[in-house]
Amino acid sequence: MRCGQGIEARQVDELFINIDPIQAGGRLTADAMKAVVAYGDGYSVCDNCRKPNRLDYIAKPPIAEFHKDVAKWLNMDAVRTVPGARRGFQAVAHTYVNKGDPVLLTSLSHYTEFLAVEESGGVAREIPANDQKLVTPDATAEKIEAVKREFGRAPVLAFIDHVDYQYGNMHDVAGIAKVCRQYDVPIVYNGAYTVGILPVDGKAMGVDFVVGSGHKSMAAPAPSGVLAATAEREKEVFRTTAIIGDVTNRKFGIKEPEMMGCTLMGVTLVGMMASFPHVKERTKHFDKELANHKIVMDALLSIEGTKCLSEFPRKHTMTRIDTIASFDKVAESHKKRGYYLQSALEEKGITGVIPGATKVWKFNTYGTTRKQAEHLGRAFVEIARENGLAVKG
Ligand SMILES: Cc1ncc(COP(=O)(O)O)c(C=O)c1O
Repeated sequence: MRCGQGIEARQVDELFINIDPIQAGGRLTADAMKAVVAYGDGYSVCDNCRKPNRLDYIAKPPIAEFHKDVAKWLNMDAVRTVPGARRGFQAVAHTYVNKGDPVLLTSLSHYTEFLAVEESGGVAREIPANDQKLVTPDATAEKIEAVKREFGRAPVLAFIDHVDYQYGNMHDVAGIAKVCRQYDVPIVYNGAYTVGILPVDGKAMGVDFVVGSGHKSMAAPAPSGVLAATAEREKEVFRTTAIIGDVTNRKFGIKEPEMMGCTLMGVTLVGMMASFPHVKERTKHFDKELANHKIVMDALLSIEGTKCLSEFPRKHTMTRIDTIASFDKVAESHKKRGYYLQSALEEKGITGVIPGATKVWKFNTYGTTRKQAEHLGRAFVEIARENGLAVKG
């Protein structure tokens, strides 16, 4: 099927088990797919926009209710939708960071957090992860003290990724937030790999903001995400416009400058809303996801030479694996070189491993059924055996 001239219909998730680390949690639900078709037109959600003319007040479709539900679900006080987690970081950084201000990041922070800081003129200071690739409350306190010595003041903001993109490790956000509060440093919880995947409670962790990515972890179309705030911070980041035109004397009511007035529209918003009940439900069953992940990990680790570079046992379904002493050995003499692994996986109905990667790579089993997890595990072991690698057990 073609969607237009030269545009083949994408069928990756229809034809394969997809273990791409960034795609697994964003796969659309059937309801989101229907929403994509029904709300494809640009301003489709604006049919019933009434005073005070802001998107998050629209009652039909139930956008206002969705905002309240998401805030409650994250145990925060206010929510706005944003075009990707990165735009949430940007809104917060733009509110708190001025030129030359130190901002706390970590040695595992995502690049979009750095760019948000850069755009506001801030200076990045990273909390180093320890040997286990974990960011700790103690390291946070040490870094804040170091920043105070360097700048004569504490950082103006901290970005902490609950689960980082490099290892899929889970960091002690509650402990880190406690330290940040002692120094009055507002903290942004980056939930790109958690919001929509596992239960997230902003107040329990003591964070000022929760950011989620719709297309990474909430089964929503891109670009989408959420920015949630506490009541105290809501007034600051979601402040309303004060600008007045000098000729027309126009004012712009309750539009919010950081949100550029109205937030997500059409496909992105209604897709995220349509998936939301499914997403809420699935976060309650993360233990099942971990059990399926373990099936695949056990199989991979039974292949001699394979190492898990992420914390172990796993607390998340996205994992970094080292196959230098296993699959990569085969690549040295295989006629397809490093591409043999991806090609052998595809023959077994599996996709999502970077083509050519046989040294260090990441995968995510989120959303697989037990049967699919067993198939994945078997597939890795069979490919290893077919290529002369030793398998334990
Ligand atoms: C840890 C982390 N934070 C933030 C982002 C950015 O998310 P988004 O694409 O929703 O802006 C990503 C993904 O690219 C990520 O892995």
